[in-house]
Amino acid sequence: MPFDIDMLKAHYESLPARVNAAKQALGRPLTLTEKILYAHLHADSPMQSYARGKDYVFFAPDRVAMQDATAQMALLQFMMCGRDKTAVPSTVHCDHLILAKEGANTDLKTAVDVNSEVYDFLSSVSNKYGIGFWKPGAGIIHQTVLENYAFPGGMMIGTDSHTPNAGGLGMLAIGVGGADAVDVMVGMAWELKMPKLIGVKLTGKLSGWTSPKDVILKVAGILTVKGGTGAIVEYFGDGAQSMSCTGKGTICNMGAEIGATTSTFGYDESMSRYFRATERHDVADLCDSVKEYLTGDDECYANPEKYFDQVIEIDLNTLEPHVNGPYTPDLAWPISEFAKAVRENGYPQKLEVGLIGSCTNSSYEDLDRAASIARQAKSKKLVAKAEFTITPGSEQIRYTVNRDGQLATFEEIGGVVMANACGPCIGQWSRHTDDPTRANSIITSFNRNFSKRNDGNPQTRSFVASPEIVTAFAIAGDLTFNPLTDTLINEDGQAVMLDPPSGVELPAKGFAVEDAGYLAPAADSSKVVISVSPSSNRLQLLTPFTPITNDQVQGMRILIKAKGKCTTDHISMAGPWLEFRGHLQNISKNTFISAVNYFNGEVNQVLNLVTNTYMAVPDSGLAYRDASISTVVFGEENYGEGSSREHAAMQPRFLGVKAVVVKSFARIHETNLKKQGALALTFANPEDYEKIRQDDSIDIQGFDSMAPGKSITMVLNHSDGTAESIELLHTYNEQQIEWLRAGSALNKIRQEMGV
Ligand code: F3S
Repeated sequence: MPFDIDMLKAHYESLPARVNAAKQALGRPLTLTEKILYAHLHADSPMQSYARGKDYVFFAPDRVAMQDATAQMALLQFMMCGRDKTAVPSTVHCDHLILAKEGANTDLKTAVDVNSEVYDFLSSVSNKYGIGFWKPGAGIIHQTVLENYAFPGGMMIGTDSHTPNAGGLGMLAIGVGGADAVDVMVGMAWELKMPKLIGVKLTGKLSGWTSPKDVILKVAGILTVKGGTGAIVEYFGDGAQSMSCTGKGTICNMGAEIGATTSTFGYDESMSRYFRATERHDVADLCDSVKEYLTGDDECYANPEKYFDQVIEIDLNTLEPHVNGPYTPDLAWPISEFAKAVRENGYPQKLEVGLIGSCTNSSYEDLDRAASIARQAKSKKLVAKAEFTITPGSEQIRYTVNRDGQLATFEEIGGVVMANACGPCIGQWSRHTDDPTRANSIITSFNRNFSKRNDGNPQTRSFVASPEIVTAFAIAGDLTFNPLTDTLINEDGQAVMLDPPSGVELPAKGFAVEDAGYLAPAADSSKVVISVSPSSNRLQLLTPFTPITNDQVQGMRILIKAKGKCTTDHISMAGPWLEFRGHLQNISKNTFISAVNYFNGEVNQVLNLVTNTYMAVPDSGLAYRDASISTVVFGEENYGEGSSREHAAMQPRFLGVKAVVVKSFARIHETNLKKQGALALTFANPEDYEKIRQDDSIDIQGFDSMAPGKSITMVLNHSDGTAESIELLHTYNEQQIEWLRAGSALNKIRQEMGV
């Protein structure tokens, strides 16, 4: 299929030398995470010891994966850089834009129809620039990556938070924003703060109702949604080796729920088995030849406290199945305590829908174990009391479980098979309900369960569990049911119990698929034309930003002085705006619409000094831009936290904002602003934020002589004729100042490429 085995050969040939150089530089044994990180240092970061949680380091990832929602802006930017091909192997996966409503076939047809323009764009750009394209229906990005591209010891970035799923095959796979994907695809270094290390030692063996999902549900309960922030989680121990490779993928996938940068496991037999089952004997053989470099050193696992910043131990022999939620994935309930929690907290006891599958849990093993429960229901004369849906992770999985009968088993108890896509997991779910605002409970084998995520109803209590536990709950239709201990009454009025699930890790007859849904890029793409209609509502070719000049930073007006929290969601709202991710002009209509205006405490009402009226923020921005008046944005602490999406930097730039001045930045957003050629500045004295008045005319002094480490002066010309000067700081290095002078990082690359 599309994997470049020669690239892997070359990678593994040089791996021992790179790992040994790292060992020498650090003077000690290495964890797997360190081996991968140090083996992927970019030429801009010399081989030396870097301080975890402190030093920013440049890396050279091996590949990039993008899902269809985030790929649009990433590729629109990439197209401008003048390269013929991406610098590293890259793929696009059409999984986010398919609405789950009636079932796989109908929903897929509708999606292809509704999104044809976006799909055509993504496929033609992929075709032109050497990017592998996975059509709608081919599957969910992370499952496809696991089946085709992930390899032990590799490093990849993906424009989706659950990219870490590939850690199930021993990769460091990290979720990023589109701007990072552009960097790597154009061949720039990719920057990351050297992560801290959390070691999770797994002992014992899973049995009965307990599955790999329960490991991560337990870890989420221990570490909470913030506990993994800035850290990579490395699993080890005999318990890790006893688990399937796809189970490891589930654990790594949901590492995103504890905020971890990524999670990973060392190479072992389970990975070799998976490679061989997915027809990648050559990859397995190569891995075997360098296996000591694809796992942590024994000493690190024997004395983990010495090598990890934090160590957690979990005994799989005693681990109970868990149900986590509602509203947050770290609210972890062992199954034995869940019924009580439901009653005491007043969660709606009746279960309305059970949903299995998704990128998190649709391996052959997952679906086979869940099917064993459904099969019992049939033989014990039970039917699913709740609605029950199945979302296969890929066409290969769907085809195989269709061939082997698991899908038919689900359908026999009332299950509905959805398209191989994200669907309800991302809220792309047209849920059948008589009252979309009613308080109700659902349970999924997905990863996230924040309010409104699945069906948009804030009254829906969404719980997360393993596919086998979800299937049992769907049959019972009751959240107080404990499948390990309780009986159900069947059609004949008899009390029956469900036996623990059983299933195989990999299909006995191997995986099969007729059309996996992959389109290889053209060998000669010189004749491929990318057409974007100028009248399109959803896509718009980008026009390079023009460089900011000294004249433009004189006499500026305030677009908004944001009060309190101003996250990337406040700057560029998510939800329904997903549709416009490929259209800068249209998505800019959401700029700052949920940020609070300091001067009146209101949302989306700012004074515009051209019209002297209060206006919506995007309208005010356009009014200033049309009048050739530059604007400034002011903010408070940790401005731009949240997502790494570049829209939050591009939109203000599009509206004519020249400078963003805040008490402090979330670092990724600060870098994104620099990449888009805007001024990202901080108050030397945070109290100066208070000095900014609504009708100030603002000048920046010393713009042309801006240099690393040198502060800048901002003059606030008040309407009463007085003026105040305040000192501003910045963190631009030489290269970033070049981006500023060029108008953006991409413009700089364009200059270098002679575009
Ligand atoms: Fe899609 Fe949900 Fe995974 S949105 S990529 S199925 S987390």
